[in-house]
Amino acid sequence: MIRLNKLSYSVPHSGGTLKILQDINWNLDKGSTASVTGPSGSGKTSLLSIIAGLEKATAGDIKVAGVDLAGLNEDGLTRLRRENIGVVFQDFHLIDAITAWQNVALPLDFSGKSQTQEQAQNMLARVGLSHRLNHRPTELSGGERQRVAIARAFVTKPNLILADEPTGNLDGETSQMVMDLLFEMVLEWQATFVMVTHDKELAARTQRTFHMQDGHLDGEG
Ligand SMILES: Nc1ncnc2c1ncn2[C@@H]1O[C@H](COP(=O)(O)OP(=O)(O)OP(=O)(O)O)[C@@H](O)[C@H]1O
Ligand SMILES: [Mg+2]
Repeated sequence: MIRLNKLSYSVPHSGGTLKILQDINWNLDKGSTASVTGPSGSGKTSLLSIIAGLEKATAGDIKVAGVDLAGLNEDGLTRLRRENIGVVFQDFHLIDAITAWQNVALPLDFSGKSQTQEQAQNMLARVGLSHRLNHRPTELSGGERQRVAIARAFVTKPNLILADEPTGNLDGETSQMVMDLLFEMVLEWQATFVMVTHDKELAARTQRTFHMQDGHLDGEG
């Protein structure tokens, strides 16, 4: 599902070049689950952004769902994201001006799908929010917002789910509930799952665990 070969990522900074990711080789099979831990600033979010096609690698090869990202233009990347990838962020990234179900329907609307309201409402039922369909994000609790974001990530039935500190803004009990739901859905949809987390206990719930340090991805352990 994910193949990174000698991937590097640098950005211009203060008149020089800042190396953020260096020489990363990584293979992740379809249907597997993996976590990436590591100190703040080590490059975890950057790695997810590149896999999601939101940032461009500066060197190396990257294949996601069998597609070489280097060969895609902006439209191609957008399509790949819409069809194959669901993302869950620490700070939810919901649109405050529209309701819960409209947020969940958005990726389907963009893809030109029909009956998006019904599908969005079914997904919200799946995450236990049938009674909050018409609430706006500001009218929801943190745990509820993250459940809306999870419903939105899964609504297009993506092969790959990327999560960046999905429980970083939630309290202990709510985190547990949200993570149980996320793992349940990953299994049910047989999605490939990559999660960035600071929480070692949480990381241990994935099949494979990796560690990031100064832009290098260390092997399992
Ligand atoms: N566009 C950019 N310009 C300059 N520096 C950047 C840019 N993007 C990221 N960085 C730097 O690259 C490093 C890695 O950032 P990244 O967000 O990937 O870290 P992270 O491991 O996700 O950290 P955290 O655990 O705090 O979220 C950081 O030191 C950050 O300041
Ligand atoms: Mg980060």
